[in-house]
Amino acid sequence: MPNAKYAKFLEQKVAEFKQIGFAPHIRVLSGPNSTKANIDGKEVLVLCANNYLGLANHPEMMKAAKDAVDKYGAGMGTGRMIMTYDIQNKLEEKLASFKSSEAALCFPTGYIANLGAIWPLMAEGDTIISEELNHASIIDGCRMSRGVDRLVYKHLDMKDLEEKLKTSAKDRSKGKSMIISDAVFSMDGDICKLPEMVELAEKYDAFVFIDEAHASGVLGKTGKGTVEHFNLYGRVEVQMGTLSKAIATVGGYIAGSADLKYYLNRASRPYVFSTGFLDPATCGATMKALEIIEKEPQRVQKLWENTRYFKKGLEDLGFNTGVSQTPITPVIVGPTDKARELSKYLYEEENIYIQAFSYPVVPKETARVRTIVNAHHTREQLDIALAAFERAGKKLKIL
Ligand SMILES: Cc1ncc(COP(=O)(O)O)c(C=O)c1O
Repeated sequence: MPNAKYAKFLEQKVAEFKQIGFAPHIRVLSGPNSTKANIDGKEVLVLCANNYLGLANHPEMMKAAKDAVDKYGAGMGTGRMIMTYDIQNKLEEKLASFKSSEAALCFPTGYIANLGAIWPLMAEGDTIISEELNHASIIDGCRMSRGVDRLVYKHLDMKDLEEKLKTSAKDRSKGKSMIISDAVFSMDGDICKLPEMVELAEKYDAFVFIDEAHASGVLGKTGKGTVEHFNLYGRVEVQMGTLSKAIATVGGYIAGSADLKYYLNRASRPYVFSTGFLDPATCGATMKALEIIEKEPQRVQKLWENTRYFKKGLEDLGFNTGVSQTPITPVIVGPTDKARELSKYLYEEENIYIQAFSYPVVPKETARVRTIVNAHHTREQLDIALAAFERAGKKLKIL
């Protein structure tokens, strides 16, 4: 028999989640994550994956993963502080070059990369100035930074950021200040104002940490991210990224100076105290993905062509797509039930899978389905989806 207090705690928590209706049913994918995939036992058109460049099951990446397994084995059986595999070092060199930075350091996930970098970078007396809508992993990294002042500036509000910088500047003798922000905001698909952030950082003697999770592989002419998009090479101190979205493998990384890497390599607790790092198959596939992105810039172009076409289609139909500037295009419907109904209708009646998001992931009364097109969607598939949205909008009285 489990401990009674423990069992009661779980029972209450399960009841709370059921009551707010958070993630009532998690759909199951059986097979590859393509534009068409087998989800909960039927083939559907997928319009909500983070597989931006359509690389998740690229044959060359699959071969590179298999080759790496043949050479190095299935797993590692050692932490990187004890023995680092040459393939892990090679991947980091490739990532550094992809991000046009001196060095890069990998972590098992993007979430851990944020935790593992924010916390050692900030010391007692320092100030973190964090964007209101930052991702949970940034918020948690900030929370773990003990003795550090934390200020939150309003979403995309550069006046407020300046105010917060002035406040932190009063105590500048105490320590350093870091501005930290998502590059692309994951629920609304809008982009941070990096040029203004960099100017303000330079004016008020702060440094910039940018989370490129939804930007790497997406923004910039060749998909290198926000720094390429705004041509701000050399002016952003820390770029964090995930390998699990556009690059379509798994893992996270921090890119910056050689000193940043040397320091985190020794001071970042998830790095020092974990044996779980990128395995040979992931390293092989990821290096191949970076090679493909560099060799085939047309993937990024296709992603944006599809994005523009689909976004305009939704807007022309009269849907509210909010403030999106990227392939993340929400269809905001308001009440939680409405968003769920829309997602269910699209899956059951139209064979299209698009996930619904509601409170507490997004503010109350802004529930939505979050569409994400990728470079592999065909024009025909996008037209099928738009026609389905039109029928759904009318049937569910959203339009
Ligand atoms: C903005 C942002 N940062 C960090 C992460 C975490 O990355 P990962 O999925 O690799 O843990 C995510 C993923 O959802 C994200 O959207």
